[in-house]
Amino acid sequence: MPAPMLEVRDLAVGYGDAEVLQGLSLSVDAGQMVALIGANGAGKTTLLRTISGLLRPTRGAIALDGDAIEGLPPHKVVQRGFVQSPEGKQLFLDMSIRENLLVGAHNARARAVRDRTLAEVFALFPILEERQRLSASTLSGGQQQMVAVGRALMAKPKLLALDEPSLGLAPIMVDRLFESISGIRALGVTVLVIEQNVFKVLQMADYGYVVENGAISLSGTGSELMNNAHLRATYLGI
Ligand SMILES: Nc1ncnc2c1ncn2[C@@H]1O[C@H](COP(=O)(O)OP(=O)(O)OP(=O)(O)O)[C@@H](O)[C@H]1O
Ligand SMILES: [Mg+2]
Repeated sequence: MPAPMLEVRDLAVGYGDAEVLQGLSLSVDAGQMVALIGANGAGKTTLLRTISGLLRPTRGAIALDGDAIEGLPPHKVVQRGFVQSPEGKQLFLDMSIRENLLVGAHNARARAVRDRTLAEVFALFPILEERQRLSASTLSGGQQQMVAVGRALMAKPKLLALDEPSLGLAPIMVDRLFESISGIRALGVTVLVIEQNVFKVLQMADYGYVVENGAISLSGTGSELMNNAHLRATYLGI
């Protein structure tokens, strides 16, 4: 059996004395779209920051495509193929849309195939091709989110992590964004997505994990989770 694309084992990390992740384990198979859900403050962003190498775990192991990556600095983690589009987009608003996208292709592996990847990003988000010369500040919130996702794709991820990509978007843009995530999976990129939009994300995801108090409390296929009474009561208000 091939190694999973991502395997997190018994991960613990905190800020100072406050332990946030307390023995979290999960795995993501290659080619899947996996959802991570959980209440505010559960530790979802902390998990991505730890995998990214921005936080150092006090315990546990992280393997990407079979290779241990815990403790590596962020740029090495990106080189290995874990790329995240951060919570809150973090674009350069005084630069053009095209320039913002090219920032993502910084690592050597991505630079070599930059023009082909840019064409893929433009195929996913045609509006960005039309407006590529304009400043990123001219875009709507939804279009800026497309740039943030496109920039992450420019780094040629094996696994793309999205942290609440639909936050603050109008409903029509949320639907478009989820269609784009389907398109990304169709390109063969494995996707891990944190979402408050639980109903929508579980309809699309191959598998989902629920984070509570810094560990996984529940997991299953999208439909298993949607039929779970605890999840329905806690996250869908049913
Ligand atoms: N830089 C920080 N310093 C200290 N504590 C932090 C820091 N960042 C997050 N925390 C704390 O860690 C816990 C987990 O935060 P985290 O941002 O990982 O949650 P989350 O699941 O992403 O929540 P949200 O849904 O609100 O984005 C929270 O109690 C939060 O207050
Ligand atoms: Mg968060």
